[in-house]
Amino acid sequence: MLKLGIIGTNWITQQFVEAAISSGQYQLAAVFSRHAATAEAFIEKTRPAKAYTVLDEFLASDCDVIYIASPNSLHAQQTIAAVNAGKHVIVEKPMVTHPSQLQALQAALAAHPQVMVFEAARHLYDPNFKVVSDYLLTHSVTGASLTYMKYSSRYDAYLAGEQPNIFSPRFAGGALMDLGIYLVYAAVAWFGVPKHVTYLPHLLASGVDGDGVAQLTYGDFDVVLRTGKTTNSEAQSEVYFGRDTVAFDSPGEFTALRLTTAKGTEDLWQPHAANPMVEEATYFAKALQTNDRAAFEQKWALAQQVHAVMGELRASAGIRFDDDPE
Ligand SMILES: NC(=O)c1ccc[n+]([C@@H]2O[C@H](COP(=O)([O-])OP(=O)(O)OC[C@H]3O[C@@H](n4cnc5c(N)ncnc54)[C@H](OP(=O)(O)O)[C@@H]3O)[C@@H](O)[C@H]2O)c1
Repeated sequence: MLKLGIIGTNWITQQFVEAAISSGQYQLAAVFSRHAATAEAFIEKTRPAKAYTVLDEFLASDCDVIYIASPNSLHAQQTIAAVNAGKHVIVEKPMVTHPSQLQALQAALAAHPQVMVFEAARHLYDPNFKVVSDYLLTHSVTGASLTYMKYSSRYDAYLAGEQPNIFSPRFAGGALMDLGIYLVYAAVAWFGVPKHVTYLPHLLASGVDGDGVAQLTYGDFDVVLRTGKTTNSEAQSEVYFGRDTVAFDSPGEFTALRLTTAKGTEDLWQPHAANPMVEEATYFAKALQTNDRAAFEQKWALAQQVHAVMGELRASAGIRFDDDPE
C-alpha cells in the first residue's frame, strides 16, 4: 500500500484521491494546504490523514508518493522539492511550464536515482488511447485534426474582472497549458516529434491564450490542434489514414471512438473507468510498487519531448509567463 501525500485541495485532488483509493493501492496519509482549515476540511472527506501547512514538514512525513495539483507555475519547484526529499511524484500536467525546468528536474532525479516522477497525463492510460496507438502500428497516417476546447468554469469570473489562476501569466495559465497539452501529448505519443510547429492563439488581455490553433509539421503530413477555454467545441477529432478515418470526440475525453473505411463504420470504443483518473492511478501504483524503471524512463522520455514541443509552440506565439527565464 502506497502512502499518498497531496498538494492542492481543489476538486481535481478529490477526484485523484478517490481514484487512488478505489485502485486499492494507496492510502491517503498527508494533506498539504496553505491553510490548516482547508487541509482539515479535505481530510474530513477522506480520513484518516495528517494536515500540514509547512511544505518542508509535509515532505518530511512518511509518504511514499506525492500527488501535486497546485497552480501550474508551482509544479516544477514542488516536484523538485519532493524529489529532493526522496519522494516519488505524480504531478499534474503541465509538469513544467518552461522546457528549461526539465534540466533542474533531471538533476534532482540524478541525485535521487530511486525516485520516479510521473506527469498525470491521464488520457495516456485510457484504453482508447491505446486503440489509436495500436492502429497506428499497422497503418500509415496521412494527417490528423485534434480538438479539445471547453468553456472554463472560471471564464465568467475572468470576464467580470477577476484573474483566476488559470487565466493568469503569473500562474502559467492559458488554453495551451491547460487543455492543449492533452493534444500535444497525443500528437507526440502517436506521431512522434514534429519537424516544425506553429501556434496561432487568440490572446486575452491578461496575456495568456484563450484559444488557438497549432500546426505540427511532420514532413509527409500535418497535424492541426485546436484548443480553447473560452468556447465549447462539438467538433470531433480525427486521425487520417488515406481513405480511412479514426474519429473520436477529444483525446482528453474519449467518449466515442470509431473507424470508417470503404466497408463501413466500426465502433472501436473501449469501456473506461467512470472516474478518468483510475487507470493512471493504477498504472503509477504498479510502476512504483514493482520498481518498474522502464515504465518511468519511457514516460519521462515522452514528457521531455512533449515539453520541448510545448516550449516551441509557446515561443512561436510569443506567450510569456512571469517566471520565464529572460
Ligand atoms: N487531470 C485533470 O483532469 C485536471 C483537471 C483539472 C485540473 N488539473 C490540473 O490540476 C492543477 C490544479 O488545477 P486547479 O484548477 O485545481 O488549480 P487552482 O484551483 O488554481 O489551485 C489548486 C490548488 O492549489 C492551491 N493554490 C491555489 N492558489 C494558490 C496560490 N496562489 N499559491 C499556492 N497555492 C495555491 C489551492 O490549495 P490550498 O488552498 O489548499 O493551498 C488550490 O486548491 C492544474 O495544474 C491543472 O492543470 C488537471
